[in-house]
Amino acid sequence: MTAPPPSHPPPHRAAVLAGVGGCLPPTAVTNDELAQRLDSSDAWIRSRTGIRQRYFAPPGTATSDLAVGAGAEALKSSGTPDADAVLLATTTPDRPCPATAPVVAARLGLTGAAAFDVSAVCTGFVYALAAAAGLIAAGAAERVLVIGAETFSTLLDPDDRSTAVIFGDGAGAVVLRAGEAAEPGALGPFDLGSDGGREDLITVPAGGSRQRLSGVEAAPRDRYFAMDGKEVFRHAVRRMSASARAVLDRAGLRPDDVDHLVGHQANLRITNHVADEVGIPRERCFSNIAEVGNTAAASIPLALDQAHADGVLTAGGRVLLTAFGGGLTWGSTVLTWPRLDRA
Ligand code: UT7
Repeated sequence: MTAPPPSHPPPHRAAVLAGVGGCLPPTAVTNDELAQRLDSSDAWIRSRTGIRQRYFAPPGTATSDLAVGAGAEALKSSGTPDADAVLLATTTPDRPCPATAPVVAARLGLTGAAAFDVSAVCTGFVYALAAAAGLIAAGAAERVLVIGAETFSTLLDPDDRSTAVIFGDGAGAVVLRAGEAAEPGALGPFDLGSDGGREDLITVPAGGSRQRLSGVEAAPRDRYFAMDGKEVFRHAVRRMSASARAVLDRAGLRPDDVDHLVGHQANLRITNHVADEVGIPRERCFSNIAEVGNTAAASIPLALDQAHADGVLTAGGRVLLTAFGGGLTWGSTVLTWPRLDRA
């Protein structure tokens, strides 16, 4: 017996950007404030990373609180408060179980929507965009709210100057709707990858099933985020450059065709190296790391929200997104910026 021809999904459905939003905790923490308790200085932090300040969520503020703020703004900017799926990229969920996305969906009035977390550290948002585009292409969703949100400060060892000065908290979000590949705002192609052989380079060793906290006392440091900064720097430049080039090849584009490179805001020096490697002038790189630090899975959507608000991203500009993070993981995609309202 032959199977009936599939009537679903509708052919050639693309995910099209329809809204953008962001949310930061209320108080910025300057380099000088951190240098009062760490053996560091504003000059070192600025020159080695490009960071001037970051935001730390106060006690009582969870990742879902920031995610709801960004999600509400993105829905408002899309002109419609609906979504039938909510994907939350985060390294810092509210709790190990359940996922944070369903809680965020309910608080946004989206009870009933499919909702799940995506865990790929700083690449999480690009992975979540790809997953959302897949849901739309498969006909499983019409409108997807994709959020990157972190309270990364909750993982930081306050005495580790090599990480405590880099990371910050925040959330960014976009709304994707079903549309056509030729429309402005259509996402894709994608390039995604991982190398779990280097899991050691970015890790919180304890708290999962490998090094359990239940019944066993973990070494205090193992509860904190740890990173081999120098080695990660090298991988970040290599992987983001290769991934960005791969996605341009797949799209049939040249570096010259890119108006804006919005990379994961890991370190200004990393973004500049990636631009050089790919052949995109540094002045076409958008960076907000000076104001927000490295916000992990939130960094690309927060940068998109700020670049849109600042009038840097305008309708018709071609935007290349590239990210790298723990796992190791990496991913890139490309889109033409659509006409969007501000929330
Ligand atoms: O988002 C996911 C991925 N994360 C990243 O992509 C981050 C990648 N790595 C980096 O951004 C950089 O490697 C860091 C910003 C973490 C470090 O910068 P670096 O230029 O690679 O510095 P380094 O680790 O080579 O350290 C140079 C010196 C060392 O002192 P000695 O050994 O030369 O005496 C460090 O102990 O700087 C010292 N140092 C600091 N000094 C003042 C490290 N952190 C600090 C600090 N303040 N906060």
